[in-house]
Amino acid sequence: MRVRAYSTSANLGPGFDVIGIAIDSFMDVVEVEVEAGGPDAIVTEVIGPYSREIAPGRDNSAAVAARTALEYAEAKLTAKIKLWKGVPPGRGLGSSGASSAAAARAIDILLGEVLREEELIKAASEGERAAAGSPHPDNVAPSLLGGMVIVGDEIVKIEPDVMFVLAIPWVPIPERKTEIMRSVLPDSISLSSMVKNSSHLASLIVGMAYGDLKLAGKGMSYSLVDEARSRLIPGFKEVKEAAFRAGAYGASISGAGPSMLFLCDECERVRREVQEAYKRLGIPSSVLIARVAEGAGEVEEDTFKCRRIVD
Ligand code: HSE
Repeated sequence: MRVRAYSTSANLGPGFDVIGIAIDSFMDVVEVEVEAGGPDAIVTEVIGPYSREIAPGRDNSAAVAARTALEYAEAKLTAKIKLWKGVPPGRGLGSSGASSAAAARAIDILLGEVLREEELIKAASEGERAAAGSPHPDNVAPSLLGGMVIVGDEIVKIEPDVMFVLAIPWVPIPERKTEIMRSVLPDSISLSSMVKNSSHLASLIVGMAYGDLKLAGKGMSYSLVDEARSRLIPGFKEVKEAAFRAGAYGASISGAGPSMLFLCDECERVRREVQEAYKRLGIPSSVLIARVAEGAGEVEEDTFKCRRIVD
């Protein structure tokens, strides 16, 4: 049985660790079989465009998520997982989250859909912890559920009818990138920073919910987290300016970077300008138009159709 889960962009600016959106640019697929004994899970093989970067084994995010899902369901089974890796790792696109979401969803389907949404998200978040060092759910939740998800004490899903430009700079990525990008964030913030971030977060959510691109884009374009991280994002200022000049409504770092996400309606123009900006800076990049994707679900055999953009 095969399940695919899409790439995601977390935070959307001010929604640090609580908002993420599924985007259709890339996907992971898991093929899962279960046998008696366990609960346990192992990734036996990683194939596909980004397989080089990902080790199989019991510590792979997909294995951790599947094992946790089996534990929650108290199922004495061992999952053997073949992972088709289509989401480029380390780029801020929820790569480990997609593997985790696909694996957790696959186990739940195999068991007859016994897990609650919260349990699925928690199980997949454990997979995220294995890869990124913290169990933040803002990638796994949209990869599991599709659309834009706000995840905290409550899980809220909306399905905004919006388009983005996704910009991926192909720069070297340090080991434990997410941990590094989290370590540059302030431990405490002033009340005025909190108010500014909250006001942008409110605009982002209301704008997305009502399809008000101007409001959503304004909300997306400031966050205290992006402000702290921007100096570590190659071309941040130049690329953002180019996108706004071309008519983008909003811009944010995608997850912990280095990719960036731009909200737009005339996206082809934004895509071209952003690509030109990276060229001027001498930064190799892929700049794509992305749409909101659906959640993790079962697929037929011939749907391994994702691409590797660059080696
Ligand atoms: N919310 C997380 C962060 C996403 O920005 O650190 C990273 O995967």
